[in-house]
Amino acid sequence: MSVGIFDSGLGGLTIWDAVTRALPELTVTYYGDNAHAPYGVREMDDIHALTNRAVHDMWDKGCDLVVLACNTASAAALRRMQEAGVPEGKRVLGVFVPLIEALTERNWGDNSPPREVDVQQVALFATPATVASRAFQRELAFRAIGVDVEAQACAGVVDAIEDGDMILAEALVRSHVDALRRKMPAPQAAVLGCTHYPLVQEAFQRALGDKVKLFSQADVVAASLSDYLARRPEMARGGAARMFTTGDPETVSARATQFLRRPLTFEAA
Ligand code: DGL
Repeated sequence: MSVGIFDSGLGGLTIWDAVTRALPELTVTYYGDNAHAPYGVREMDDIHALTNRAVHDMWDKGCDLVVLACNTASAAALRRMQEAGVPEGKRVLGVFVPLIEALTERNWGDNSPPREVDVQQVALFATPATVASRAFQRELAFRAIGVDVEAQACAGVVDAIEDGDMILAEALVRSHVDALRRKMPAPQAAVLGCTHYPLVQEAFQRALGDKVKLFSQADVVAASLSDYLARRPEMARGGAARMFTTGDPETVSARATQFLRRPLTFEAA
């Protein structure tokens, strides 16, 4: 009966926040698999199994459309789940394509051949599993030519955020940006390819400098979802908005409230 937003943990809240602001009438259910976060250091099969289980749980709880607000899950599980077939009337979508459409200045569903775009040197910051999957480069190659992507696997950042240790998270961001710059000294754009990273977006921007254009998913995904729902209004039926976690609801509620600066209450999934 509602749209569901899924993440391994707290990162998808950056998307949930943008979606609930852009579409205040929409009933949005959130689901964090905090008991198993981080996903980004797991094997692909393991990420697929966890994502598949959580998404089925969300469908059973009444979500019709589930957005994987998690790049790691999108990279490891989305295509496999779609190929395996989803139940009648249910959908699952990921977050890569809207981001790449924004980067390549394309509209939804523009399937024209790949073409040259404004940026040629792009830094990608993501989890080790997302970087290893090369899913971002694959999707980009369908849409753009002549773009050089240097990917930096940002080990440790998601753990630090899930633990609420923002000082460590910011220190790790600085060191990952330094490591990226040793490989690509002057990126024109940087993609935050993990939904946890907008929570340390300022640290990324400071470390990269003002000249580097940052692409982060929250607003891009919210805009793309409102576009989708305008074409598929049956996916946006009402219902009570709820927030579920596989972790400890009290701890997760406290962290979520601290990150988004609005009172949020999770219940056990
Ligand atoms: N927030 C997730 C992403 O966008 C994953 C983080 C993790 O669990 O490692 O990739």
